[in-house]
Amino acid sequence: NIEASLRPLSLDEYIGQQGLKENLRVFIHAAKSRNEALDHVLFYGPPGLGKTTLANILANEMGGHLRTASGPSIEKTGDLAAILSTLEAGDVLFIDEIHRLSKQVEEVLYPAMEDYCLDIIVGKDTGSVHSIRLALPPFTLVGATTRAGSLSAPLRDRFGIISQLEYYNLSDLKKIVSRTARVMNTECEPEAIEEIALRSRGTPRIANRVFRRVRDFAQVYNEGVISLEVAKDALDKLQFDSLGLDAVDHKYLRGIIERFHGGPVGLEALANSIGEEAMTIEDVYEPYLLQIGFINRTSRGRIATEKAYRHLKIDYPKE
Ligand code: ADE
Repeated sequence: NIEASLRPLSLDEYIGQQGLKENLRVFIHAAKSRNEALDHVLFYGPPGLGKTTLANILANEMGGHLRTASGPSIEKTGDLAAILSTLEAGDVLFIDEIHRLSKQVEEVLYPAMEDYCLDIIVGKDTGSVHSIRLALPPFTLVGATTRAGSLSAPLRDRFGIISQLEYYNLSDLKKIVSRTARVMNTECEPEAIEEIALRSRGTPRIANRVFRRVRDFAQVYNEGVISLEVAKDALDKLQFDSLGLDAVDHKYLRGIIERFHGGPVGLEALANSIGEEAMTIEDVYEPYLLQIGFINRTSRGRIATEKAYRHLKIDYPKE
């Protein structure tokens, strides 16, 4: 399947996140030469930057299997115990949205992370309640979250490696789009690759999704060849603007500017006013708008910057 083949399987194939990659190489090498499992890893940052891909790579590089789960899918302590008890030495357990684990489930995770132990409560029906301790094989927990701040301190403290994933620069994003074109056997003009990279808001997942849609337009209108013209036309039709901002980004910025005089406005008030979920705004949309300097976050709320006004071609109010 194409989706899977787009994902690099080794650190060498993985493009971008240079500093993180170099550190991981050291930690992997050191753990392997000690014949230990890699220490537990927490990845945080906006969606689509490669947290799952990296978990998969860590499992491959360590020679273990990848088991995946997500915070919301592990409802009961028994669900987690069931997963933990299938692990083999060197496996990677990937838990996406790890900030959404319940307190009870987290507490099963602590001894598993710290001592590779699983404490199971038995005898609830017999009146002699006690816990038995099962040994787990050495494994690596890889947690992913969009918000490191919502992880409980005891959980966060049990990760030996904590890394933030960053938005990709243009050069790295171009390499990723080139690779996707190659894997998907699609002829693509270099200028078209650049255009797609420019308009994917620093995010490989968006670049790859956009690439597939642009390829559809190319197939119908240009015999499958992605020219700059086809790419531009397709991106316009998909409503990604010259900076890759989509309809929600526009609604958000226009919300601050037109309904709240450019701010400051609180997150909740703004989210309500444009009919979007506050958490989605905060985790998905704001990080990029902050990064490109279109908004500022102050103690009194969000403000749109002059740069944002200029991009939307709205006059910036003079003091
Ligand atoms: N595909 C998606 N993300 C990638 C990355 N960081 N490197 C290589 N290919 C990718």
